[in-house]
Amino acid sequence: MQAKTINNLIISIYIMSKVTVVGAGNVGATCANVLAVNEVADRVCLIDIKEGLAEGKAMDIMQTSRLMGFDTVVEGVTNDYSRTEGSDVVIITSGLPRKPGMTREELIGVNSGIVKSVAEQVLKHSPEAILIVVSNPMDTMAYLTRHALKLPRNRVIGMGGALDSARLQYYLSKALKCNANDVDGFVIGGHGDTTMIPLKSYMTYRGINVREFLTDEEIDEVVKATMVGGATLTGLLGTSAWMAPGAAAASVAEAVIKDQKKMIPCSASLEGEYGMKDITIGVPCIIGRNGIEKVLELKISSEEMEKLRASEAAVRKTTAVLKDLNLL
Ligand code: 2OP
Repeated sequence: MQAKTINNLIISIYIMSKVTVVGAGNVGATCANVLAVNEVADRVCLIDIKEGLAEGKAMDIMQTSRLMGFDTVVEGVTNDYSRTEGSDVVIITSGLPRKPGMTREELIGVNSGIVKSVAEQVLKHSPEAILIVVSNPMDTMAYLTRHALKLPRNRVIGMGGALDSARLQYYLSKALKCNANDVDGFVIGGHGDTTMIPLKSYMTYRGINVREFLTDEEIDEVVKATMVGGATLTGLLGTSAWMAPGAAAASVAEAVIKDQKKMIPCSASLEGEYGMKDITIGVPCIIGRNGIEKVLELKISSEEMEKLRASEAAVRKTTAVLKDLNLL
């Protein structure tokens, strides 16, 4: 009788999911908010070095939980990394944002030390976590995180391509006068004003190449606007953007937590793909529970390949500075 009862028992084990967001500035707080509103994880830990900042932002987010109807619990922490323990995903947004007129690359001196030390601290408490790097210069910070901490490539994801592709989709929808959910398109290469490459051959409106609907000049305008998308907002806002960067990072985290196997352009360490090694740069990836589960090698035109080579050279130049700074 007892054995039968045990046989009939349905045992369900619910494993709680946890995401830590490091940095409670504009991008980090927005990211935590999107993670909560979309119920990406059960728990979100928002941590910052500035006394009370993360606690305040987390409390503000939690005061919207009844209004927005979410169950995720967001907690704010000042600098106590033990509270990040057990995170499945850690999103690193720490460091300075750019000011109008600045390039992302100019932030390397300040941000690289911060990002390295943050990555070391989070891994002490969540040694298996997948890391999503947002801080700029993003490709170089992702390279630093992977190599300074000797992580396998699947565990470090740079979120730049997710953001740049969302901006491309926005500008495409404006040009087509349609909803952004009806268009597709993505951006590869470095996350820099001159290094990103919006791929014309893969821009579609309901699956149809946009060349059927837009002139070459109109497509070129979309490409140009996308490339300076971040700089345009920095000029308007007086600091770098946060809504789309925060949402882009949250969407990458969601693909990991929910094992979505989503195709997202991300900054990944290449191991021979596109003829490149020892570089972290934007390419389309399959993102799932194990982070970067696959790097996709697309057919791209010779003109786009030439641009990717130029982007590679620029990203390598910035990344080389890490050695001068004695960080690798
Ligand atoms: C941007 O492009 C912050 O790099 C980020 O807005």
